[in-house]
Amino acid sequence: MDKLIIRGGNRLSGTIPISGAKNAALTLIPCALLTEEAVTLRNLPRLADIDGFQHLMNQFGVTTAIQGTRPEDFGRTMRLEATRITSSVAPYDLVRKMRASILVLGPMLARAGEATVSMPGGCAIGNRPIDLHLKAIEAFGAQIELTQGYVKAIAPDGGLPGGDFDFPVVSVGATENALMTAVLANGTSRLFNAAREPEIVDLCNLLVAMGAEIEGIGTSDLTIHGVKRLNGATYAVMPDRIEAGSYACAAAITGGAVRLEGAKANDMQATIHALRSIGVEVGEDAKGVDIATPGALSPVDLTTAPYPGLATDMQAQLMSLLCKADGASVLKETIFENRFMHVPELARMGADISTEGRTAIVKGPSSLTGAEVMATDLRASMSLIIAALAAEGETTVRRIYHLDRGYERLEEKLQLVGADIERVDD
Ligand code: UD1
Repeated sequence: MDKLIIRGGNRLSGTIPISGAKNAALTLIPCALLTEEAVTLRNLPRLADIDGFQHLMNQFGVTTAIQGTRPEDFGRTMRLEATRITSSVAPYDLVRKMRASILVLGPMLARAGEATVSMPGGCAIGNRPIDLHLKAIEAFGAQIELTQGYVKAIAPDGGLPGGDFDFPVVSVGATENALMTAVLANGTSRLFNAAREPEIVDLCNLLVAMGAEIEGIGTSDLTIHGVKRLNGATYAVMPDRIEAGSYACAAAITGGAVRLEGAKANDMQATIHALRSIGVEVGEDAKGVDIATPGALSPVDLTTAPYPGLATDMQAQLMSLLCKADGASVLKETIFENRFMHVPELARMGADISTEGRTAIVKGPSSLTGAEVMATDLRASMSLIIAALAAEGETTVRRIYHLDRGYERLEEKLQLVGADIERVDD
């Protein structure tokens, strides 16, 4: 199994190209189930999770073709064609490896009249139930059965009538599933307290390009007028705001100056605000974001929240950066329980962090030192890389399959800006 070796201390400088957003891609791909015509997605990141999702789509009888990109290019284009659905079952083996597989439930139900998806099971960053996905789909008229670890959703004869659902908790995935179900319902559906992350807007934009009728895009109240059929479309995945934010932290912790080419500043304002209050200079233009670190870093209090609040997916990376701030910072995680698994690993590198429930107190500045550390989940892994870039000596990060799920060619991108990082076979 591969591991990453990082020798810290290099000041990062140069340009990092930002890839298409993983979390957007994972909800755009299942949209191909909604139409017999081809859906072509450009700017898809090359990631293990995308390959996994492609595999899942093939399992349903969807043909997929990767188009026209050279191996050395970042990103790729995938054409998906669901002319005929040959199976409506997402088996345990595929779902187990990729939690986002639950996102096929809604579109498969809408298209085929029924869908059977293995329950995703536990997850490293909390229980992550799917009750809201099921309740929303039920509100649109589906019948839900749970048997032998599988959830089966069935539409009445003549199709789903549609309906209203008020989310008790903001959920990105459940909003996505609900949207992909409602677009083909017979009537109008309304979603209240829906998630409004940029990835949801990306999903709505693709659905509209396919002929869906959605009002309120970008707000938490969405009205979806069901249509009889959807057409194919060609669509470019939005830039990855979490990848961009992660490299911003990487640049800042080394005192570096990096341009994040292709990053969309508008989608990452909460992260930009956090970085500026820490003392990082952030420049924004239509084609990217510039990061510079002129002086000492200041401690801050940060709380994660649904969009437009600070993304929980940025919490771990900002925590690493705050290890270098001059004073005590407070980080509150409100979205997931058990999302501080990077703390003991950062402590092994010399960080001074204490946690109580969902609050972490980071005392800086710490002189970080290289160590052997273990990646636990995707963003936690990135926080270890960030700390390692500023640490004295060598850090070995193991279990990097987590990183390969979410960061396209991580070590190549960091090498581009002068990091001493290499992937080696264990
Ligand atoms: C998505 C993102 C993930 C990000 C998260 C929050 C993808 C593939 N993943 O995950 O990277 O960290 O949004 O921004 O896009 N909840 C329930 N019942 C449900 C669903 C969710 O109680 O049926 C709870 C969760 O336990 C959590 C909260 O709602 O406490 C938010 O979760 P949600 O927004 O659904 O996260 P995901 O869509 O799984």
